Amino acid sequence: MKKIALIGMMGSGKSTLAKMISEKMGLKYYCTDEYIEEKQGRAISQIFETEGEAFFRHLEAEAINELVTFGDMVLSTGGGIVLNSENVRNLKKNGFVVVLLNRSVEKILSNIDGTKRPLLKDGIRRIESIYKEREFLYKQSSDLIINNDDNIDETLNRLLNLLLDTGECNEEKNFD
Ligand code: S3P
Repeated sequence: MKKIALIGMMGSGKSTLAKMISEKMGLKYYCTDEYIEEKQGRAISQIFETEGEAFFRHLEAEAINELVTFGDMVLSTGGGIVLNSENVRNLKKNGFVVVLLNRSVEKILSNIDGTKRPLLKDGIRRIESIYKEREFLYKQSSDLIINNDDNIDETLNRLLNLLLDTGECNEEKNFD
């Protein structure tokens, strides 16, 4: 299994963990947000500001369309990719294992940087409602669920063990 996509809330640790997996497994690392920023030559927050969220979602779907053709990789995705079921279908159709990195709202709130995240421009407590709105979508979209509430090295080890399995083994506790 060489195509792994991490999904989950802003601040759940997707890009940190994706980089760690890519090093451990010798895989390329990509991030949908970084890919969009590089292609557009500007920050996500600027895109939201000038063209709005709908345009960003369009760019996000386009980015996934392109990234799925790049072969094996670990892909860190923006927190909102599950809002468009076509994104998730696209990943799975192209052989990605979709892993939900779950982190409790309290933990996210304790160390998230809201300054670069347009959806949090009115305050990081918006995380609470976004989490509620998306909780079902995240669960429904994932092949595997892994919790990242404590030590990231431990999360990495648990995820690598789950990935070694055939995907039968699903860590699904403490989602709420
Ligand atoms: C978003 C998450 C962000 C980024 C954009 C929208 C979301 O990515 O794509 O600000 O809708 O949850 P991260 O999850 O990497 O912060």
